[in-house]
Parts: sequence; structure tokens; C-alpha cells
Amino acid sequence: MFRRKDRVEIKTDAQILLMRQAGLVVARTLEVLRTAVGPGISTRELDAIAEDSIRSQGAIPSFLGYHGYPASICTSVNDEVVHGIPGDRVLRDGDQVSIDCGAILAGWHGDAAITVPVGEVDQAAGELSRVTQEALWRGLGAARVGGALSDIGRAVENSVRAEAGGAAYGIVEEYVGHGIGTSMHMEPNVPNYDIPGKSLALVAGMALAVEPMVCAGDRTVRTLADDWTVVTVDGRRASHWEHTVALTTAGPWVLTALDGGAERFAAMGVHSPAAGRD
Ligand code: MF3
Ligand code: CO
Repeated sequence: MFRRKDRVEIKTDAQILLMRQAGLVVARTLEVLRTAVGPGISTRELDAIAEDSIRSQGAIPSFLGYHGYPASICTSVNDEVVHGIPGDRVLRDGDQVSIDCGAILAGWHGDAAITVPVGEVDQAAGELSRVTQEALWRGLGAARVGGALSDIGRAVENSVRAEAGGAAYGIVEEYVGHGIGTSMHMEPNVPNYDIPGKSLALVAGMALAVEPMVCAGDRTVRTLADDWTVVTVDGRRASHWEHTVALTTAGPWVLTALDGGAERFAAMGVHSPAAGRD
């Protein structure tokens, strides 16, 4: 949704460095939010913390007012997949909340999402989040100069299937990742599944938001009457993880990860300019 019909925006090295600063605003904000999550906090309180964090770093919350969206983050609890609106809901022990956050700094966007357990979650919820995060990193690791866009979705899909351990997880198809830069949503779409056939060549200077949404059960989703909140039709949980990644000749650089992806990529054997950098 909300796709701009532009060509793919190719950034200079200097522009990627500016995007890194925007990415760090998002990374630090999500870190604060992750720590703040616990039984008894409302999603509206999380939103206030996010807006404070973003503005105190000199940035602007990109979601606020976007197509009329009324908050600075999305908070999607349990069966909510994405675009949950912060409000009166108080998080309870055993819930799981996905928090999606975007910021604009000096005209450049960062966009990332995490799934956070509230207190003690059951093992299935923890496993769903782990599988989704792993799939995200496999997708990020496939964001390589000289590769193709479809490598990313294939890596995400294969990872979900490989990590599922017999579970029949559903990968959401209605919402996809996206190019990002001077706008939040730009060309190209970045699906979380394989698309056979010829695909866009990945070149240095691209920046992409990779964001798998994985359901514990069926992948069918619907939107609530608030016109934003997307939920699973079967009522089972979903997890959402997202990062903004820049494609460089030295490998993928995860702009919204505090360490740029150094640790996860090292464990995966993926070369990244983040290694020894941050
Ligand atoms: N980060 C979301 C997306 O990933 C955008 C949230 S929609 C908004 O692409 F309206 F809340 F901004
Ligand atoms: Co996004």
C-alpha cells in the first residue's frame, strides 16, 4: 500500500551516511521501547515515549499524519499483524507486541520493527518471533550488490520454512517491504516470498526496508473497522520484524541496527561494512 510510482532511488555514499543517522534514531528509540514494554504499560504510553525519543534526537516521527495515521508508532498485539494504533490498551503478562517505528532526519527515512514479549510468553509465541526475526536477517543477508531482488524474498521464505520445525506458519503477502530514502515507501516492493522469473538487479546505493510478517497459523488477514489495524482471520498470533538496509559494494549495512548488523552477519558468514565499524 501507499507505494510511490518513482524509479528506484540510488543514494550516494554521503546520502547513505545520512540515512544511517536516521536509522540510528529509530534503533535507539526501539531500544528504549523494548525496555519500557512490560505488564501494565499502555500502548499510548509507548507511543509517547517513542515520540519523545524521536524528537529529542532532532528527528520527526514519520508515521504521524501519514495518510492520516494518528500516532508515532504502530503497536500490534497478539493476533494484530501490523498497523495497530496505540491507545488505551494495557499490555498484560503473556502478550506479545510488535512495535513499528519510523523517523525522518535531515530529510532521510529510517523504518524498523521489533516483536517484544510482555512478561512471560508461552513457548510458541517466543518461537514465532524467533523464526520471524531469523527470516528477516536471512533476507537482509541476501540484499547483496550483484544479486536480484527476488533473492531477498526467497531467503525470507526459505528461512521461515526451514526454521518452522514442523509448524505450518503463514507468511503474509498483502503487506511487503519497500524501497526507502527521501520517502518512507518507495519503489521497489520487497515481498517476503519468492517470485519466480526475472527480478530487479540489486545495485549499490539502494536502500530497502525488509519486513516479514509471519502468522502462527493461516496467513489470511483482514483490516479492522479503524481502517488500520490488520489482524489474522484465525485469531492466532503474528510477528513482525523489520530493518532498513543499505546495499554497498562491501555488503549489506543494516542502518536501523545499533551495530549495523555486524554480529548477526558475522554469525551468518555474510560480509558487511558494519564489521569493525560501529
Ligand atoms: N513501517 C510501516 C511500514 O512498514 C508503515 C506504517 S504505516 C503508518 O511500511 F501509517 F503507520 F505509517
Ligand atoms: Co516499512
